[in-house]
Amino acid sequence: MSTSIPPVVRTAQSTKPLVQVLRGEPKFPPPIWLMRQAGRYLPEYMKIRNTAGDFLSLCYTPELAAEVTMQPVRRFDLDAAIIFSDILVIPDALGQGVRFEEGEGPVLNPVRTRSQVRQLSHKDLRERLSPVYEALTRVVEALPAEAALIGFAGAPWTVATYMVEGGSSRDFSNVKGWAFSDAQAFQHLIDVLVDAIAEHLIAQVQAGAEVLQLFDTWAGALPEREFIRWCVEPVREIVTRVHDSFPDVPIIGFPRGAGVGYKLYAMETGVNAISIDSSVPLAWAAQELQKICAVQGNLDPIKLLVGGDTMIDASREIVSTLREKPFVFNLGHGIQRTTPPEHVSSLVDTVRSF
Ligand code: CP3
Repeated sequence: MSTSIPPVVRTAQSTKPLVQVLRGEPKFPPPIWLMRQAGRYLPEYMKIRNTAGDFLSLCYTPELAAEVTMQPVRRFDLDAAIIFSDILVIPDALGQGVRFEEGEGPVLNPVRTRSQVRQLSHKDLRERLSPVYEALTRVVEALPAEAALIGFAGAPWTVATYMVEGGSSRDFSNVKGWAFSDAQAFQHLIDVLVDAIAEHLIAQVQAGAEVLQLFDTWAGALPEREFIRWCVEPVREIVTRVHDSFPDVPIIGFPRGAGVGYKLYAMETGVNAISIDSSVPLAWAAQELQKICAVQGNLDPIKLLVGGDTMIDASREIVSTLREKPFVFNLGHGIQRTTPPEHVSSLVDTVRSF
């Protein structure tokens, strides 16, 4: 795809704090970036969002996607940019219609049968997602020397929830009903997703991503046995494929809500780091997870929204508990849209001037 020198050469010698921590070297103060750091809480984002039309058009216009990726990095001097895109570009590229309705979230034509899975095709995936890769290449040019570029994808289970439910869901009754009653057929959908997601991550590295994150937002919806089959095993396969091509590119896994399952996930998937949600006890994370891999997290996004001492005290506790071993400061989930940007500035100051 790209004729330039493979970025793996660049990352192997990386001096960027985020990359170093993810390779196992603790840093103090820790690197900081925030999930959903680009978005509607920033007035400069709203300005561009209002000219771009719908959300997916913004994702697929490289110049604008690169600009909104850079906005939080410029404003807050963060240690990483995460490419502005969405986990639902995968079903879109596979040919399942995806729309974002204003105030309603994503809407997809549900995939619920074997024959509907067979209609998905990843033969045009790279072509359809080429605007994402072009946006990454643009961000590489614009990035400050110390900031790392993160590519990402949804993990198969979480992407499957949207594909089967046809959008967001409260109880996941369709997707769980299918996975629990006909695991063989559901496995076909997961296999299609493993292929597509691994290819998309590899293409993002070729376009300039130095770190990858897999979002498994709905991992906590599954019982143990199914968590292993539909979260751990597909992610292990993806990590293996990406590391076969790019062994030095760190991968962060985020099996949100997995509870004590975080440990199994960290041990079995081969990820370089695990991103923990706000419910994970810090002392447990320090003791049980940091001996396996780097840990990222886990300020409650509502504490960021509230700001002040609530935010500052919680951030200090997180840093002081996790600082001895490889640790990346982040939230336990994405920024809320009503968060005052000044709270983010104050958070970055708190973490850096600890
Ligand atoms: O973190 C970043 O700054 C990078 C961009 C990013 C977006 N979505 C942009 C976005 C990332 C990493 C995502 C991941 C994503 N998308 C997840 C996993 C992480 C999580 O938050 O749990 C999920 C589940 C999605 C699916 C999705 N995208 C939903 C359910 C929605 C609608 C809900 C909402 O917040 O509006 C989106 C839309 C979306 N993705 C927006 C942004 C900035 C809002 C779109 C807008 O501007 O109107």
